[in-house]
Amino acid sequence: MQRKIVPAASVSGEIGLPGDKSISHRYAMLAAIAQGKTRIRNYSTGADCHSTLGCVRALGIRVEGSGTEFAIEGKGLEGLRAPAADLDAGNSGSTIRMLSGILAAQPFRSRIFGDESLSRRPMRRIMQPLGQMGARIRARQDQYPPLEIEGSPLRPIDYALPVASAQVKTCVLFAGLFAEGATSVLEPARSRDHTELALREFGAEVAVNAGRITVVGRPKLTGRDLAVPSDLSSAAFFLVAALLVPGSKLTIRGVGLNPTRSALLDFLIGMGANIRILDLESRNGELVGDIVVEHSTLRGGAIAGGLTAALIDEIPVLAVLGAATERGLTVKDASELRLKETDRIRTVVDNLRRMGVDAEELPDGMAVPGRQQFRAAQFDSFGDHRIAMAFAVAALRGDGPSAIDGAEAASVSFPEFWETLDAISR
Ligand code: S3P
Repeated sequence: MQRKIVPAASVSGEIGLPGDKSISHRYAMLAAIAQGKTRIRNYSTGADCHSTLGCVRALGIRVEGSGTEFAIEGKGLEGLRAPAADLDAGNSGSTIRMLSGILAAQPFRSRIFGDESLSRRPMRRIMQPLGQMGARIRARQDQYPPLEIEGSPLRPIDYALPVASAQVKTCVLFAGLFAEGATSVLEPARSRDHTELALREFGAEVAVNAGRITVVGRPKLTGRDLAVPSDLSSAAFFLVAALLVPGSKLTIRGVGLNPTRSALLDFLIGMGANIRILDLESRNGELVGDIVVEHSTLRGGAIAGGLTAALIDEIPVLAVLGAATERGLTVKDASELRLKETDRIRTVVDNLRRMGVDAEELPDGMAVPGRQQFRAAQFDSFGDHRIAMAFAVAALRGDGPSAIDGAEAASVSFPEFWETLDAISR
């Protein structure tokens, strides 16, 4: 599907956004293996989180509800049933990687697959630690989906993650729930900690000490009433839209501001962005608040090291913003970006060049000079949700109408993206 985007004179109003994708996945998976009913409000409407619900149902768990409210009837650590068919993770790396930690401990065999993009994403990063725990997993070419998981009793491990990945951390901690004793994961850089917070909400014991996260196996997990905050990574597109377009002022309500995610706000404020947080509160262990953003002239900046890991999903839209800053943006230590839904270094640089923006592709990042003009262009999402949305935002600053091919990809995380963008663009 192609979408046309006309330049905006300003971006303004007040919006709410769908529930956080990362938190929704975790709540649904933990609800399935907790005892009793979990009610989830503001569950993500994205296709990825519905892939997780589909897998949970296929494992014999009753899921009722629609839209953004679901009730999941958990059956405890021993309650999952062998699926009648292969499990479909769709486009979702989180579904396949995190659920595999649970599947590895089951007394049955399962097979989990995904779409073309997911079938090219590396799984050795979870096969290795799960193998050390005693799981038997086969993969296409020893590293790609589909995965065939022969569940077995697991032993606890103390695992040093080779790359900072919250999905891999979660996979190992979820597997550790089924092992007797303490399972630990040591992170090279701090990654999002929704799993640690969610585990505690459901009643598990989680210790965090000098980058090492430890969960004690065989906990009693209990169903809960939970509310998912709006997704900061989805808010990022609108924050950047407002910062880019002169005369803009936007309020985004109820956004998740977990400190392991909110480096985005610090980074933008550090470049000179006019951003304020209102009504900060804690819900189910997660910080939530309203964000007010106004158009600002930004200095530009550099993303490297631990900051790259903290901003990994926001880099596509930050690259767009970088071209409009005073000094531009450089991104380094980001080879993980090449392993996302698309090679996001390549797909970002390709689309930047389509709009006449000069950008250099680096092996582990990119360099985008500042003070550049955005020309109207025909963009391609390459089937990647964050690329579709990042360049829809770029098109708001174009010198004429732009078009985006493959715009439907946005619904992987944010089906309401296009109507929200229409509602705030003047
Ligand atoms: C996620 C972790 C990140 C991120 C993804 C969601 C999560 O992936 O890119 O969108 O919910 O844990 P990695 O763990 O591969 O860095």
